[in-house]
Amino acid sequence: MKSKKISNPFPVTAYYGKDYFCDRVAETSTLISNMQNGVSTTLISIRRIGKTGLIQHVLASMPVGWKGIYVDILDTENLNQFLNKIATSILAAIPEKSKPGKKIWNFFKSLRPVISFDPLSGSPQVSFDMKQRDVESGIMSVFDILEDQDFRVLIAIDEFQQILSYPEGSVDAWLRSKIQLMKNVHFVFSGSQQHLMADLFASPARPFFRSTQIMKLQKIDKEMYRNFIISLFRKGNKEMSPEIANAILEWAEIHTFYVQQLCNRVYAVTEKKVSDDLWKTQAFGLLKEQETMFYAFRNILTRSQWQLIRGIAQEGIVYQPSSKAFINKHRLGSSASIHRSLGALLGYELVYKDYDSSGKLYYSVYDVFFKRWCQDQ
Ligand SMILES: Nc1ncnc2c1ncn2[C@@H]1O[C@H](COP(=O)(O)OP(=O)(O)OP(=O)(O)O)[C@@H](O)[C@H]1O
Ligand SMILES: [Mg+2]
Repeated sequence: MKSKKISNPFPVTAYYGKDYFCDRVAETSTLISNMQNGVSTTLISIRRIGKTGLIQHVLASMPVGWKGIYVDILDTENLNQFLNKIATSILAAIPEKSKPGKKIWNFFKSLRPVISFDPLSGSPQVSFDMKQRDVESGIMSVFDILEDQDFRVLIAIDEFQQILSYPEGSVDAWLRSKIQLMKNVHFVFSGSQQHLMADLFASPARPFFRSTQIMKLQKIDKEMYRNFIISLFRKGNKEMSPEIANAILEWAEIHTFYVQQLCNRVYAVTEKKVSDDLWKTQAFGLLKEQETMFYAFRNILTRSQWQLIRGIAQEGIVYQPSSKAFINKHRLGSSASIHRSLGALLGYELVYKDYDSSGKLYYSVYDVFFKRWCQDQ
């Protein structure tokens, strides 16, 4: 697939092709090699690191003989909507006029869906209105049809943790029982809620336990990212020094979404050469724009929750929030109250916990811009 032409080479929403996509070479080849070897993969990471981007990149790099189908189930609330989403994604990936398309489209039509066409993209949208048992057998039949094709299939389901909220319950059990029998269709499961994804795939009590290879997506390598940014500026006849690229990456903590946002702004206002002043003004502007929202975050917090998050923001990452040193430095309360506040901050997804490369647990503020703003309060 060729990259689309865009006016700013730092997209902040979708995937625009290989030219605007940094690195992920090893991850892409692992995902492709997994599917070729019949292994499904679960992709997890903290939010906004680039899971969806990586999936799109893999789907744009499919080897001959494979078809990739992307299904985002974030806005589904039950099995019926899940089927609608899968069907819509399959129909979008396999045109009606193609040879396999005929059979697949005919099958869907036999389920008497309402088919409409997206007015902007022209892609088909289907919706079925069926009883639960019919929905389940509908999904099974869809998988059977794909299993029967002479091309192989990768289905990437994004925001997969959503199935946990379906009222039907134990969706993962019957999905797993079907998936494990398939030889022609393999899966990537990805989700932005790390704790729910971990619960689905890494908990021994769950049907999907050990049924996929878990890939933890890390931040992009700093040097790769720096060279990538500099070269995209250069292609637009703009110049950014390695020192400034480094400063931007550090300020945005090499967290993909925030790096992209800042680079997008800096690119937009640079005529020839990025100065120190210029990027800092843009960074400050981004925080200023979101300040109303940051005040709103702050207002939902109790005083001790606010003091804790500010302390975590100022430290960057914190290994032991109830240590004496941390408590004294940031004038926090008892370790019991810190524990309570931390629970609330994790629940609001303002703070996340993760493990460093040596396996040590730490806490950090989730939104990099909010973190930078807290540091100045
Ligand atoms: N390798 C990359 N190179 C350049 N930009 C990227 C790369 N990966 C992701 N992006 C961009 O970074 C932003 C965030 O990425 P993405 O939406 O893929 O993250 P995510 O992990 O799926 O987030 P969430 O957990 O919220 O679903 C997007 O705008 C995307 O275009
Ligand atoms: Mg995503």
